Amino acid sequence: MNRGHIGVLPRAPRLEEDSYLEFMESVRNFNIRTLFPKIVPRTFEPQGEQSTEIRSWKRLMRSQQQQTWQKIQDGYAAERARYEAELDAAERARPNRLHYDPNFVVPRYATLDIHLQPGGYVGDSLAGYVFHHGTKVFYQGDNDQDELHRQVVDMVAAPADGRVVRVIDFGCSIGQCTTALKQRFPQAEVTGLDVGLPLLRYAHKRAVDLDVDVHFRHGLAEDTGLPSESFDVVLCYILFHEVPERLFPVILAEARRLLRPGGTLTVVDAPNDSNLPAPNRMWLKFDALHNCEPYSPAFVASDFRKLIEDAGLRITHVGPTPTFLHLTTAVKDVAGG
Ligand SMILES: C[S@@+](CC[C@H](N)C(=O)[O-])C[C@H]1O[C@@H](n2cnc3c(N)ncnc32)[C@H](O)[C@@H]1O
Repeated sequence: MNRGHIGVLPRAPRLEEDSYLEFMESVRNFNIRTLFPKIVPRTFEPQGEQSTEIRSWKRLMRSQQQQTWQKIQDGYAAERARYEAELDAAERARPNRLHYDPNFVVPRYATLDIHLQPGGYVGDSLAGYVFHHGTKVFYQGDNDQDELHRQVVDMVAAPADGRVVRVIDFGCSIGQCTTALKQRFPQAEVTGLDVGLPLLRYAHKRAVDLDVDVHFRHGLAEDTGLPSESFDVVLCYILFHEVPERLFPVILAEARRLLRPGGTLTVVDAPNDSNLPAPNRMWLKFDALHNCEPYSPAFVASDFRKLIEDAGLRITHVGPTPTFLHLTTAVKDVAGG
């Protein structure tokens, strides 16, 4: 039985999973909002990371994450055939909106169990469903109706001449920004691109359900195969901290290639700061070592402004956002473009 949705949020296969995930959300909330401030003073001590408090906090964070994924993944796996049929039906309903090549080979760097999700973004046919519930817990209830994605899309820099014909969302996951982009730029053709096909199949089903007309394309941000100067806007929402460092300049070069002169790039991601305060440093290290975020320290330590400029884009804004993420916008100048 399909248990329906609450707004845009699907209900889990059974009440058991919904109830368990609600508990997991409370545990995460408690770990972050109540326990973390208590361990902050320890992070300034030379041997603080060996303290019982910090070690317990790390274990609680990791166990909460593992149990969240396990519960929801098991729930969907028990009814795999039904959910796969749902994805197939969405493809049949709008056949020209999901683009993929069955022979596409996923690069090894993209096969990790990022954030401990078993199979990561590519290894489970129902990863999109699982990701949606897991990230609901991650956002601690603040994004149940895509509120944060809409906030991100409101920050996207529009070209100065106002012309927005084509928009691309690099690393779109389940398409929450992609559909919000279409709502912000209704006249534009909007495409979400991602390396994870199971995420895209779910993104497509979701867009069909929401009746938002967008495209999804299976591919690589560093090598999209799309025509040069064919986009007005490129968005990268929390993509860069999840790719290996060697790809930072390659993805930026690809974004610049795709942009027409006057087109804009918007990046929303972790702040770039090689002198993080001790509590943030501890959390970053925890994420890298215990939460399968191995690429993020290099992104945080990078001189991302310089990388953007080296790619031939002019920075128009760098600054904080209402969350801990930072916003960087840039333009491909007309002169010399
Ligand atoms: C943290 S998620 C991004 C979240 C997403 N932008 C959203 O709106 O919620 C990172 C995404 O980037 C994708 N990804 C990682 N490497 C990629 C690459 N080289 N090209 C395209 N997508 C990539 C992953 O599959 C994953 O869906």
